Amino acid sequence: MADYSETMALALAILCCFLCGNAFLPSSASSDSFLQCLSATLPTELVYQQSSSGFTSVLESSVQNPKFLTNTTVRPLCIVTASGVPHVQAAVRCGRAHGVRLRVRSGGHEYEGLSYRSVRPEVFAVLDLARLRGVRVVPGEASAWVDAGTTLGELYYAVGTANPGFLFPGGVCATVGVSGFISGGGIGLMMRKHGVGGDNVLDARIVNADGDVLDRAAMGEDLFWAIRGGGGESFGVVVAWRLKLSRVPPTVTVVNNFPTMEQGVADLLAKWETTILAPSLPADLTIRVVLQERHALFQTLYLGRCSDLLRTVGIVFPELGMTAADCNEMSWLRAMAFLYFGNTGTPAVLNRTNSLGTYFKSKSDYVRRAVGRAGWEGLFEQQLSRNGNMLMILEPHGGAVGGGNTNATSPHPHRRGVLFNIQYGSMWWGEANGTAAATALRWLDGLYGFLGQYATSNPREAFANYRDLDLGQNVVGGDGVSSYSSGRVWAERYFMGNYRRLAAVKAAVDPSDYFRNEQSIPPLPKTHN
Ligand SMILES: Cc1cc2nc3c(=O)[nH]c(=O)nc-3n(C[C@H](O)[C@H](O)[C@H](O)COP(=O)(O)OP(=O)(O)OC[C@H]3O[C@@H](n4cnc5c(N)ncnc54)[C@H](O)[C@@H]3O)c2cc1C
Ligand SMILES: *[C@@H]1O[C@H](CO)[C@@H](O)[C@H](O)[C@H]1NC(C)=O
Ligand SMILES: *[C@@H]1O[C@H](CO)[C@@H](O)[C@H](O)[C@H]1NC(C)=O
Ligand SMILES: *[C@@H]1O[C@H](CO)[C@@H](O)[C@H](O)[C@H]1NC(C)=O
Ligand SMILES: *[C@@H]1O[C@H](CO)[C@@H](O)[C@H](O)[C@H]1NC(C)=O
Repeated sequence: MADYSETMALALAILCCFLCGNAFLPSSASSDSFLQCLSATLPTELVYQQSSSGFTSVLESSVQNPKFLTNTTVRPLCIVTASGVPHVQAAVRCGRAHGVRLRVRSGGHEYEGLSYRSVRPEVFAVLDLARLRGVRVVPGEASAWVDAGTTLGELYYAVGTANPGFLFPGGVCATVGVSGFISGGGIGLMMRKHGVGGDNVLDARIVNADGDVLDRAAMGEDLFWAIRGGGGESFGVVVAWRLKLSRVPPTVTVVNNFPTMEQGVADLLAKWETTILAPSLPADLTIRVVLQERHALFQTLYLGRCSDLLRTVGIVFPELGMTAADCNEMSWLRAMAFLYFGNTGTPAVLNRTNSLGTYFKSKSDYVRRAVGRAGWEGLFEQQLSRNGNMLMILEPHGGAVGGGNTNATSPHPHRRGVLFNIQYGSMWWGEANGTAAATALRWLDGLYGFLGQYATSNPREAFANYRDLDLGQNVVGGDGVSSYSSGRVWAERYFMGNYRRLAAVKAAVDPSDYFRNEQSIPPLPKTHN
């Protein structure tokens, strides 16, 4: 059993840790004047041009997937490593004035690399916020100001050490940026109790397309709504978030259970998917499942003690066979480290070093009706057991993420009626675009195809934070603006009926479409009003 846990821990670590080549960009008058503007307004040590000795290491510093480090990857003209808000304002003003777009990067985990590369040849700069980080927590206070370049792990550490008794409901992967996490909604093991990341924001400071800094009162409720789950990049550069912290008991419990296919994993999954939304199941309890080859890891986080956990699981899910010996009781901060790194010290969550050994591609789905025993068995027999390099992570919904008029706080639409979210991952080694890649992508397409019969349809929902360019890309019209109709193809899968409202916000705050990438929210055309 130790073997499966090690393989899975490795696979999870690899998934957490997902860069750029040498496409030569045309030097033009506008890029020269942009660079001159930067050097006139920013300390020179903050700007890395392609010719700078530090350029490659800064570019690669938070890349998580070597797929975006090839000779054909479209690289930025330069990287601005802002360490203060005025640097962000200067970069936006220079970019606007000289027609050079910025790609904003916080944690760098964007699955398609869009925070530091462009799919099409274009001149752009990366605005890297990794130096703009810090968390201001006050003991006993249920909120914290967090700078945009902070990682979830840094946030967990600051809260857990300076304000114990509180938590922020983030994800398992400590190197994910707080900004990208919240911008895409943000799901995790504490959302059944506290909602998605976007539901836990009290205020924010954003640099708009004019280079002005706006707080919640100044930006207004529509823009404040849009940035809490409407996708990163589209509306401006968030420089700080004021996050809501919630009470957590001094002791929480983490359990990893590893039954194998022979132990009836299909039966367990069929039971799991029908009990996870039962009203009897407290929102303090979350059991997510990671599937690989012939194995399933049932990973439990319970916001309370082992004895209470066992009582609940003994009633609703006795088949899992959870015992006191499986329980790991610890503080919430230790649990955040334990879930991802295993039994190491809590400072592990501060490690921002990326590892670039594994190529991978992810996709996502939402499931709203039970797959059933036969479906799970078919999944293992026809798909997973035939290729050990594929992974599925099932995140249960319900609880706080399943009810209420949550559209008021965030555009994240996958809520009431969702049983669970699926993240698919397919891994390969060797070359970015060789036969191993082709094989891995073919398997992934097969797996995604197989699950089609069980996933949602019209639209087949997808999660914005698991960005997937297979779903479509914007088309930029003759007016130089991304077209609303081209955006519908992919955006209604991420945002459903909230797409139109997001596009209306975009039209109000950035009608010329300065902040954009291949999957940013296009402005709603006037003819649609
Ligand atoms: C291993 C792994 C595990 C993950 N687990 C989870 C999970 O449990 N739950 C979950 O919800 N997601 C998860 N994700 C997805 C992750 O939340 C998204 O990829 C997220 O967008 C990453 O944020 P980032 O700041 O690290 O990325 P970045 O690449 O820096 O940014 C992501 C996007 O946001 C934009 N952006 C970044 N900073 C700003 C800013 N300050 N202002 C405006 N726009 C900005 C970027 O331009 C880009 O479009 C995981 C990803 C990985 C690789
Ligand atoms: C990428 O460029 C390097 C240096 O120019 C070269 O050695 C390498 O062969 C190239 N790789 C590919 C896959 O073209
Ligand atoms: C930080 O993470 C990197 C990449 O995963 C790893 O190689 C390194 O050993 C870690 N450092 C510490 C101090 O844990
Ligand atoms: C990968 O190879 C395929 C087929 O040879 C080609 O169509 C595609 O453009 C390549 N992608 C990259 C990123 O080089
Ligand atoms: C939230 O918005 C989505 C998309 O517009 C819609 O499908 C859903 O019913 C709304 N949920 C609530 C609770 O209003």
